[in-house]
Amino acid sequence: MAMFMAMVMAMFVAMVMSVVLLARRLPWYIHPTPAEGHPNPPSAMRHNDLVGGKSMVSRDADWVEMQRSLQAPLFPSAIARAHEAAVTVGKYRDSPASVQAVTMVKAAVLGASGGIGQPLSLLLKVCPLVDELSLYDVVNTPGVAADLSHISSCAKTSGHLPKDEGLKNALTGCDIVLIPAGIPRKPGMTRDDLFKFNASIVRDLTQGVADHCPKAFLLIISNPVNSTVPIAAEVLKKAGVFDPKRLFGVTTLDILRAETFAQKYTGEKDPSKATIHVIGGHSGETIVPVYSQAKPAADIPDSEYAEIIHRVQFGGDEVVKAKDGAGSATLSMAYAGYRFALSVLRAANGEKGIVEPTFVHLNGVEGGEAIIKETGFEYFSMPVELGPSGAEKIINILPQVNEREQALLKICKEGLQGNITKGIEFAQNPPQK
Ligand code: NAD
Ligand code: LMR
Repeated sequence: MAMFMAMVMAMFVAMVMSVVLLARRLPWYIHPTPAEGHPNPPSAMRHNDLVGGKSMVSRDADWVEMQRSLQAPLFPSAIARAHEAAVTVGKYRDSPASVQAVTMVKAAVLGASGGIGQPLSLLLKVCPLVDELSLYDVVNTPGVAADLSHISSCAKTSGHLPKDEGLKNALTGCDIVLIPAGIPRKPGMTRDDLFKFNASIVRDLTQGVADHCPKAFLLIISNPVNSTVPIAAEVLKKAGVFDPKRLFGVTTLDILRAETFAQKYTGEKDPSKATIHVIGGHSGETIVPVYSQAKPAADIPDSEYAEIIHRVQFGGDEVVKAKDGAGSATLSMAYAGYRFALSVLRAANGEKGIVEPTFVHLNGVEGGEAIIKETGFEYFSMPVELGPSGAEKIINILPQVNEREQALLKICKEGLQGNITKGIEFAQNPPQK
């Protein structure tokens, strides 16, 4: 009898344990949370689980904490897609607040098969803030996408070519679009020499953005940035969808160079920890490093100042020359593009205090008027505080620049105006074919 009782007890304990263990492994949709009264997120919403380096949310406390830590919805199309995913699984119908707390990011790289495009796409593929990555190019994207898709990271990856409405499919639902499409320099060329090839490429790709994801953040990498950003703005204006806060000329490579080349003066072991603003434009003498405001201070002796400024302004030529006809900076640019994109996404996700210099349309961004007054330009690269809607506020560092930097700015202005006007005129009066 005692033996029988012991067996019954053992079976009962085993059953209870199985139920407990099974319950812990049950999927989110039959595991409601007491705090929200509805379930944990579907796997389609998993990316937020990685915010802050956390792994998959599986416990109620984590879920509640995650909900609290998340900011308001930031990507309109992401919310639409989150809704779609929710409705598809038939669950979140009655819980819009919960859906809104979820951020899903679809990123696109246009020119994804190129020297910048491939490593940039790799970095975005492993970015925990990206759920979906679409690659567009006139060649090779199926191969690049197939290759990247084997990486076991969150982002679902797809490759698109112009046929079968590839641009539309690549861009629909995008929250952030990066454009490194176009021709790179060869030795002896200026960035402006690229205008005749790249102006129409940027124009046409931006038209795609206007048509298929007008609210996306648009990051222009293709040169000459001083002209391609105005081209993009004109296209978006014409389409009636221009938001100056969402268009950025990526000048981050100038900042990386300024940080790297000043390392021995700032004393920072990790040069990326220094804060060095680079303002103006992105070509030769339009690039103005503001070492007087560096943090930590960069104590550059007068005798070495001209050399370091020249290296930052003409760092691109250094790479073009070293590559000897095989193109310009690609790996450092991919990293720079990724670093800037990540800043935009982190700020959009509610993180405060993120400041990056970038080439923006001044009118329409807080603080822009003051820069227009001081420089007379419509576009200028300045440190910009990023936020949920993109370029929230331009930080005017012009009053703090020293005499040496004022002299650099004077030269910068001479070249920049022509570049900007050229871009605007091209977009407003396209050359007849
Ligand atoms: P690349 O030739 O290696 O790659 C360019 C890619 O663009 C190619 O794969 C090409 O097929 C693609 N492409 C061409 N036309 C296209 C179109 N209409 N639609 C889609 N894709 C198209 O060149 P790269 O080295 O990657 O450089 C790309 C651009 O980035 C150049 O203009 C270069 O000057 C610029 N760049 C800018 C910075 C910066 O700091 N902003 C830095 C480095 C390079
Ligand atoms: C750079 O700064 O490296 C890029 O703009 C590419 C170039 O042509 O120099």
